[in-house]
Amino acid sequence: MTYRMVDLIQKKRDGGAFSKSEIDWMIENYVNGTVPDYQMSALAMAIYFKGMTTQETAYLTMAMVHSGKEFDLSTISGIKVDKHSTGGVGDKVTLILAPLVASFGVPVAKMSGRGLGHTGGTLDKLESIPGFKFEKTEEEFIKQVKETGIAIIGQSDELVKADKLLYALRDVTATVDIIPLIASSVMSKKIAAGSDAILLDVTVGDGAFMKSVDDARLLAQTMVDLGKSVGRETVAVITNMSQPLGFAIGNRNEMTEAVNTLQGNAPKEFQVFIAELAQIMLQLAGLEKSITEILEHFNNGLAYKKFVEMVKAQGGDPYAFEQLTAPLKVKYQVDIHAKASGFISEEKALGIGLLAMKLGAGRATKADEIDFEAGVTLTKKVGDRVEVGELIASLYSNREITDELVAEFNDSLVISDQQIEQKEIIEIIR
Ligand code: URA
Repeated sequence: MTYRMVDLIQKKRDGGAFSKSEIDWMIENYVNGTVPDYQMSALAMAIYFKGMTTQETAYLTMAMVHSGKEFDLSTISGIKVDKHSTGGVGDKVTLILAPLVASFGVPVAKMSGRGLGHTGGTLDKLESIPGFKFEKTEEEFIKQVKETGIAIIGQSDELVKADKLLYALRDVTATVDIIPLIASSVMSKKIAAGSDAILLDVTVGDGAFMKSVDDARLLAQTMVDLGKSVGRETVAVITNMSQPLGFAIGNRNEMTEAVNTLQGNAPKEFQVFIAELAQIMLQLAGLEKSITEILEHFNNGLAYKKFVEMVKAQGGDPYAFEQLTAPLKVKYQVDIHAKASGFISEEKALGIGLLAMKLGAGRATKADEIDFEAGVTLTKKVGDRVEVGELIASLYSNREITDELVAEFNDSLVISDQQIEQKEIIEIIR
């Protein structure tokens, strides 16, 4: 069957629903270059306004899966569990969670991406370890998971070719934050990557694509249903991204926080949050563990040991381990002190994420170079009491930190008389 793209754009513009054959045709012809970017952009915008049915989203997801290679992890014994976050600020979860889960003998075969704009990417954080390599062939990836029980590599160019093209296009046409397109983008990558079970971290709040819990719930349910419909056990956790996650933002800065957490040197609530996610991943792999048993792997060194094995297997310099927890090496540091006494009631993730990017920790465009040492360290989080003059945060950069940038931090912060309680996990969707 052949179609004209202009007719398909018109159909969606007028609120129609696509058939499987129409979706297969447009994805195939977009990937092979027959459908140009300008028509795909118009279609993405029509989808943005008119949405997609559950059936269309499922067709789109599978058409995207079939646009590239699919990894076959069946020679790795055990239930392979994958994890994906819809993105945020200070989100170093994978760096801690993946080795933690692998330390229980559950194979973790994970592909991660880079950060863009205010969101960080796991690959950039891992790259702050000198020598760390994340490019692997399918064979090398499988070999490493068999030998060390864990690998975190970059998204293969061979996998889900449609997403690579479409995501870049969406990024510059204001069509990222729409549920059917996010769901098909995430789930096509997870399905093609070959794991048996998937934990989805759906972030919600100021620093996430989903701004309301209702939208996050809908996205989570859509992705859980997609995963299950193709036989992948899938659980989604809706997590709070109204303030940055943890205390560190920036690549090496987050790596340091991840290493400290893996070594049992993090605030209890943060350790418990990661342990709760690990408990779900372990359940997906058929292993029932209590939170106490999971936390034990931070204290007895097993989680950190697994992390070290992974880094070494991927070429990371062993000397670098001591450097990972050393103070940030930057030309400029500005400490921010509380202007009033009270409780921190807001620490806006978007504002702080954008600021970290401007300090050099992130990219405004794909071509930008990252400064691994740049970032923001918070010393207080929402709900904490502060006294006037007390240290709240430090900004680190190799670029001059202007008054304007300091003002951006202050604009992201609200101190009030009200003590607000925030929880990291808002809801679990199975
Ligand atoms: N993460 C993805 O992988 N895709 C999206 O569309 C949004 C977040």
